Amino acid sequence: MTIQHSISLKAYNSFGIDATAEYFTELKHLDTLQEIAADEKLPKLKVVLGGGSNVLLTKPVAGLVIHNSLNGITIKDENENHVWVEVMAGEVWHGFVEYALTNNLSGIENLALIPGRVGAAPMQNIGAYGVEVRDTIDQVTAWHWAEKRFIVMRNEDCDFGYRESIFKHFLKDKVLITSVTFRLNKKPNLHLEYGAIQTQLEAMGVSSPTIKSVAEAVMSIRRSKLPDPALIGNAGSFFKNPTINKQQFDLLKEQFPNIPSYPVASDQVKVPAGWLIEQSGWKGFRRHDAGVHVKQALVLVNYGKASGSEIQNLAIEIIESVQSKFDILLSMEVNIW
Ligand code: EPU
Repeated sequence: MTIQHSISLKAYNSFGIDATAEYFTELKHLDTLQEIAADEKLPKLKVVLGGGSNVLLTKPVAGLVIHNSLNGITIKDENENHVWVEVMAGEVWHGFVEYALTNNLSGIENLALIPGRVGAAPMQNIGAYGVEVRDTIDQVTAWHWAEKRFIVMRNEDCDFGYRESIFKHFLKDKVLITSVTFRLNKKPNLHLEYGAIQTQLEAMGVSSPTIKSVAEAVMSIRRSKLPDPALIGNAGSFFKNPTINKQQFDLLKEQFPNIPSYPVASDQVKVPAGWLIEQSGWKGFRRHDAGVHVKQALVLVNYGKASGSEIQNLAIEIIESVQSKFDILLSMEVNIW
């Protein structure tokens, strides 16, 4: 294993923030985890970066940053309806989506083009266009630093919620996800209920959708409104869509008749944060190099040299302004370091 000192993490986070890691190593083999755990000279704090597409670095990282480069995709089992595929955590997420499409395996086509690596998928319970990754995860394997062994978490042990899992809470900084086993479907089980997908499929002239055409529709919707991190630094949705009670929603609806919403439970609705932020006047806002994306107000962007704190301060201002206009408290989806 090679340990580097004082390394810039600019190339390792999709926001393109130039923060420093005290120690840095590239993880390519599982055996290296034993070595790292045994090395008493290394800092206790070990943080893992995959694609760095869900973090905002606001200060130097005083610990060992481990860049997960574990690769490999292996079929573990199959039956008449399903295939179980183990994917190493350092694989690029969209590369795995392409693997599934090529092999005619359904389940993750709506999650095409989500930035990041496979290890972040269970962590964030990534989701888009009516599908969450929890629906296809069978189990997650992780290295436990204190116990110095691998643990296996079944789907039901992962406490999956909306952009939430046990890996962001109880197991935060305690484990490193090494692989995820997915259960994919041999027979397509298409999720087309999200309106924009249907509109896009119609525009593409598709009358009998397949997993490939659904993925193409998703990619084209994403490309039309989400910034490409290779061109403009960002971490996708910066905030979660808040859930509010029906009573509060009904009052807001009187004042703002166009407010969009999705039912969650009989007494609760979800309101798109992007709409709340746009209505508060932030869409397209820019201060120095920190801004709010022009096409999707839920996405904060770094036009080049913004610091993590500048982005974080902008996020705080947005939260305060949405709260004072709508009395709704936004929470961040991105993990702040
Ligand atoms: N809207 C606005 N202004 C905006 C953005 C959105 O008024 O600037 C309105 C739209 O008109 C629409 C509603 O808000 O009525 C929802 O917008 P959209 O369909 O773009 O989805 P979203 O709720 O903003 C969520 C996820 C995205 C995911 C899309 C599609 C969260 C936090 N975000 O966004 O996930 O791709 O749905 O399923 O749940 C991510 O997590 O990084 C991410 C991109």
